[in-house]
Amino acid sequence: MCTPSHFEIAYAINPWMDLDTPVDVERARLQWEVLRNTYLSLGHRVDLIDPLPGQPDMVFAANGGLVIGGRAYGARFRFAERSAEGGAYAAWLTTHGYRVTEPTRTNEGEGDFLALGAMILAGTGFRTSLDAHIEAADALDRPVVSLELVDPRFYHLDVAIAVLDDGNGETPADIAYYPGAFSPHSRRTLRDLFPDAILCSEDDALVLGLNAVSDGHHVVLPSAATGLAEAVRRRGYTPVPVDLSEFMKSGGSVKCCTMELHR
Ligand code: ARG
Repeated sequence: MCTPSHFEIAYAINPWMDLDTPVDVERARLQWEVLRNTYLSLGHRVDLIDPLPGQPDMVFAANGGLVIGGRAYGARFRFAERSAEGGAYAAWLTTHGYRVTEPTRTNEGEGDFLALGAMILAGTGFRTSLDAHIEAADALDRPVVSLELVDPRFYHLDVAIAVLDDGNGETPADIAYYPGAFSPHSRRTLRDLFPDAILCSEDDALVLGLNAVSDGHHVVLPSAATGLAEAVRRRGYTPVPVDLSEFMKSGGSVKCCTMELHR
């Protein structure tokens, strides 16, 4: 995670961001602390990267790369406003012993790549380019399933799909998603691959409910997504709601603030 020391709305690169709706900096700091403490209380380790001045979105650590095993595929941001973040995250990963493949294609890390069992679900349409999917498959030696995002409000895959169980343990992979975020052929792909997935309502998707982090038991998700929390509970998970409303002003929530170091 990256402390939100420099977090603000300084530019608008997605439909959630509005220069006239400023961030309450103190509230954002407290909300972020609650998220960090939530992970710690669930028994997870949280490493921190130093925030760079002038990079207000660096708090969205998910975008810094995709890490599986000892390897990482670095990020290369779509917009110049965020381009300095790629090198900072790659440097952190290298220092911490990960073998980082430097990207030549535009991709925003776990914003558009979700590790799921043996495969990677990859989004394209707004930020990450399709050829980055191939580069990621090569860098991490995993098959990639490409999915096309069509609704600008859901500009990253991690606001359209939540991985509930990554299928690396004894249980099969399990996801929740909002079908309206995807093109018809990608909806079909998701139906075929995950016939039992939880289908998230538009209301829950619009409070970024799918921007969740699960350890396979606890699903940490935005507190406003009450319908999704209930659906997740009925499936046997324990929903852990947290309020990240200040980060929603930038188009991010729980998952965006979290880069997972997948084994
Ligand atoms: N303001 C950031 C952007 O538009 C939000 C990034 C959210 N991150 C994510 N993983 N979805 O780039």
